[in-house]
Amino acid sequence: MTQPQETISSAPDADGTLSFKETVRTRRSYRGFLPTCVPDAVLNEILQDAQNAPSNCNTQPWHTHIVRGAKLAELSMAMHADNDAGRHTPDFTFDMEEFVEPYLGRQKAQGKAYYEAMNVMRADADGRHRAAAKNLSFFGAPQIALLFMPFFGDNVRVGGDIGMYGQTFLLSLAARGLGGIPQTMLGFFAGTVRKVLDIPENHKMLFGISFGYPDEDAPGNRMRMDRVPVSESVTFHS
Ligand SMILES: Cc1cc2nc3c(=O)[nH]c(=O)nc-3n(C[C@H](O)[C@H](O)[C@H](O)COP(=O)(O)O)c2cc1C
Repeated sequence: MTQPQETISSAPDADGTLSFKETVRTRRSYRGFLPTCVPDAVLNEILQDAQNAPSNCNTQPWHTHIVRGAKLAELSMAMHADNDAGRHTPDFTFDMEEFVEPYLGRQKAQGKAYYEAMNVMRADADGRHRAAAKNLSFFGAPQIALLFMPFFGDNVRVGGDIGMYGQTFLLSLAARGLGGIPQTMLGFFAGTVRKVLDIPENHKMLFGISFGYPDEDAPGNRMRMDRVPVSESVTFHS
């Protein structure tokens, strides 16, 4: 049994942002954006919101790289070239073969929803490759945020901090009627990103976020992912 995500529509608050409930329950991942850039004043507000994320011992280990303009085009070209050549330089492993149930089933449902939205048949390997490669064109977004972290300890707790930062960033976008998508796939090319953006070797990339004004008509935005009931995720003890 799964629960559909809620659809809530109402006017923004006086400061132009949605209420907390509207923001968290309508946030979703977008896979299609308009070419319009987010104005700097708005982007600065979003970055300030994300900066307020909690972190272990207030270490604030996030190092965020905003990429746009000619550099974004250069990065996209380099990632596509790597992808076509099967050249991956990730800082952290990500092996879907290691997924176990019930997570495996959820991952498969997510992949199926995306390829169906993109009108790609299961047997069409080339079509699937092309649809997945849209990640590397940032789904048309004219700006991205790449989340880097220092490498120390077992990295899991630092990674958790980056997740907190990323979600705050995404919710700030959603509150302003903007959209984004976190992308592990961008991290498959961490080595290349470091070269193109001249980022020190000891900063490792966890994931990126493509963001901007969602294109509601884009095929990639046709899908909606549901959630299992809270009772499947939460155990009460007393
Ligand atoms: C850390 C992280 C990495 C992700 N990486 C990708 C990615 O590389 N490509 C993609 O299309 N979606 C990616 N997603 C989006 C998930 O598929 C999406 O969050 C999930 O299906 C739930 O859908 P929703 O965000 O619309 O609620 C990622 C999400 C997270 C949190």
